[in-house]
Amino acid sequence: MVFLNSKLAVGIMATYMLAAAATKEGQENGTDAEGCIGKGQNALASAYYPPNGVCSDFYVPLSLDYEGPEWNASRWNNAFELQDFLSTATASARAGYPLPLGPMKRFQGNYEIAATFCTPRTPKDGKEKTVIVATHGIGPGREHWNSPYRPDEFNFVKHSLSKGYSVFFYDRLGCGASSRLDGFEASVFTAKTVLQQLASLVRKGKYTGKIKAEKVAVIGFSFGSYATHAAVAEKPEIADAVIMTGIGFNTTGINGNGLLRSFVPRIAALENPSLFGDRNPGYLTWPSVYDLVMNYFKAPNFDQDVALYTESAKQPFSIVEFLTFAGPAEVSADKWDKPALHITGELDYIVADGTTKGVIDHPAREIYKNAKPLQISVHPGASHHLNFARNATGAFEVITSFLSQNGV
Ligand SMILES: *[C@@H]1O[C@H](CO)[C@@H](O)[C@H](O)[C@H]1NC(C)=O
Ligand SMILES: *[C@@H]1O[C@H](CO)[C@@H](O)[C@H](O)[C@H]1NC(C)=O
Ligand SMILES: *[C@@H]1O[C@H](CO)[C@@H](O)[C@H](O)[C@H]1NC(C)=O
Ligand SMILES: *[C@@H]1O[C@H](CO)[C@@H](O)[C@H](O)[C@H]1NC(C)=O
Repeated sequence: MVFLNSKLAVGIMATYMLAAAATKEGQENGTDAEGCIGKGQNALASAYYPPNGVCSDFYVPLSLDYEGPEWNASRWNNAFELQDFLSTATASARAGYPLPLGPMKRFQGNYEIAATFCTPRTPKDGKEKTVIVATHGIGPGREHWNSPYRPDEFNFVKHSLSKGYSVFFYDRLGCGASSRLDGFEASVFTAKTVLQQLASLVRKGKYTGKIKAEKVAVIGFSFGSYATHAAVAEKPEIADAVIMTGIGFNTTGINGNGLLRSFVPRIAALENPSLFGDRNPGYLTWPSVYDLVMNYFKAPNFDQDVALYTESAKQPFSIVEFLTFAGPAEVSADKWDKPALHITGELDYIVADGTTKGVIDHPAREIYKNAKPLQISVHPGASHHLNFARNATGAFEVITSFLSQNGV
């Protein structure tokens, strides 16, 4: 099938919003699902700011010049044409269809990235000078890290602030309040390039208020983890530590064909014109919360109201993001000699085909053979959505302990 044959496997994740840079006081609310739904999506201002932080929102202008795969199939314009593409893409190699992704080509453009920076209201031991730069995956947006819903249980930013860290989190290109992009262009290579630029800006003290970063830790989720891996493998100097959540490097664990089916992709602009009407037909979304649950959650390890909240905050993903997401799994991180943490749900359906058993250590240990140290953690009971499964704070604790134990 498409991704693995093409060595450009696929991607998964996404969120947000509109306003000018402003300092926000933390608000302790957003604890009921209805209060959160729809707020914040496609706007720069967040639906929630952790009360233990001082947060600012920014539009970051970026100029991109990078290589990504050329789209080598017909572009669909309606739902019937998309279905025909999907049945072609998931057909057996015996059917002899050409690959939808062609050779790499140059893409250029000027865009804006919507981002939020939060630093602890009460700094601790200078730790606030470590800035965690967070890249979301396919499905959520920036809010993946900053849940307005039951924030004491599911908000990574709030947790990190409580441990003294600052956090910079942003909407990937095409998501939330960031610029729109052609869905037949946006790929994991786009995301890698954006992260490399943002992490460098953060290190230079840009978009971090009064904080001048002494250390930068990059963290990703799913598609965002593969983009983060690709970014540090190529330019290790952008960060002092790397954390990948919902990551798998063993392609035995990535059932590309199965995922293209279980995601039930539909044209996002047709599914939800008011939220996604400004995306071209290359942007897709799944039709219901049940499709989200299939891929991201495993009973009994999640609450249905949390799945409903997560569905309400979803962002569309591009076909090329999906088809390229796991491509970076084949890239070696030989040049990375700093701390690296991989943390994945025990029952991850997307990167481990429903169980991490036998697929999580290798080739991850070979790919990160020079990391000092490499920690591979399996988070019990969870599927893909580590941040929204029960005991998410257990995973958050693993992450911030790893950083502090390694002097970051
Ligand atoms: C949310 O916070 C604002 C400002 O602190 C407050 O006015 C409002 O009543 C709160 N809403 C809920 C549902 O708690
Ligand atoms: C692109 O499509 C053409 C025809 O549709 C096919 O001949 C060619 O092999 C494809 N290229 C790749 C890289 O798959
Ligand atoms: C991937 O996992 C399978 C199953 O455990 C194992 O046989 C294989 O060696 C692993 N692949 C790599 C490249 O380590
Ligand atoms: C919660 O998560 C942590 C970190 O993965 C784990 O050690 C702990 O056993 C988990 N607790 C439960 C009740 O699953």
